[in-house]
Amino acid sequence: MFETLEPLAPDSILGVTIAYRRDTSPLKVDLGVGVYRDDSGNTPVPAAVREAERALIGAQTTKSYVGPAGNLEFNERIIALALGPLAAGLADRTSTIQTVGGCGALRLGAELVKVGRPDTVVHVSDPTWANHEPLVGSSGMRLVRYPYFDAARRAVAFDAMLSHIDKLPTASLVLLHACCHNPTGADLSPDQWQALAAVIEHRGLVPFVDLAYQGFGDNLETDAVGVRTLAARVPELLLAVSCSKNFGLYRERTGALAVISATSVARNAVATHQARLARRMYSMPPDHGAAIVASVLADASLRQHWEEEVGSMVARMKSLRALFAARLAARLPGHDFGWVSRQRGMFSLLGLPEADIARLRDEHHIYMPPDGRVNVAGISDANVDYVADAVANLLA
Ligand code: LMR
Repeated sequence: MFETLEPLAPDSILGVTIAYRRDTSPLKVDLGVGVYRDDSGNTPVPAAVREAERALIGAQTTKSYVGPAGNLEFNERIIALALGPLAAGLADRTSTIQTVGGCGALRLGAELVKVGRPDTVVHVSDPTWANHEPLVGSSGMRLVRYPYFDAARRAVAFDAMLSHIDKLPTASLVLLHACCHNPTGADLSPDQWQALAAVIEHRGLVPFVDLAYQGFGDNLETDAVGVRTLAARVPELLLAVSCSKNFGLYRERTGALAVISATSVARNAVATHQARLARRMYSMPPDHGAAIVASVLADASLRQHWEEEVGSMVARMKSLRALFAARLAARLPGHDFGWVSRQRGMFSLLGLPEADIARLRDEHHIYMPPDGRVNVAGISDANVDYVADAVANLLA
């Protein structure tokens, strides 16, 4: 059966981790996969998450099935975290299902759209996260890119984006990064979100918002401005949420897909389709991460502790951006590195050709995906000068 299969090339992001692990050089630096790291290079479990986990293990009396929709308390609380005060007013039009991470939410959302309207075309930013196209495109829907990033200004090409989206056919699906755009780090301002929401509403488009980094841009509230602006305005919206980064629950695969429908009748039908799709793909999601998140969000003191921990992660990423920008500027006076600090979240694009990214890997043992996306959380006091030297040489 499998003798005709050819081996595939490594995944463009996960393959970087494999190559990095194989490298025995003491100089090696991992700026690849998007995981937060502390100054010693560890990806910590937040203390509030550990505490909730300990209590959960002590109190849990059964491992019986939870059902395709997963942990209902988690579903409610995670959407309240994303939508804030809007969540209550939208509750009768919102149907949320726990998913296998944010990836599971994207895939399930795509399958749901395909069931609702099989000829839907999905519009994705150019560039977008390397796994968006495989995840959403595997549903069979056609994907088309919209202009997003102005590489010369290293900022959102907002006018081009808006005028492109303003010409899309009604009912097109528009995939948007809520914050911390992956891979560019370039985000929309609150005013730009307002303008985009007006166009999306006016043209009858359906936003599919990927909220993978809430709390990693500025804070939990401001990072949700985009999705809240849209949710307040449009009749239908899909929202994929990931708890991998802000709760540090990467391997627990904890996420949710919320669908806001135009009516509560449609919402009830959507809920049945979400459950059936999950049942057909994987039956039901793993419980552990969702149970932890539900307890953290339900307990005022754990929640406050967790919010402080997210705050210190984002503060560290901002200070690393400032440090990296300063070290590059010191090596290349006259070049403007303000963009490194202006961009948000874990990622920025170096703007170097693929051949230079291969040189960083082969000659300097500095690892990142071939598009030159750096995970700024992989920079540390110990390696910043080494990385700045190598990158500045290529940027000169
Ligand atoms: C990334 O972009 O590096 C992360 O979202 C991890 C992944 O699955 O690609």
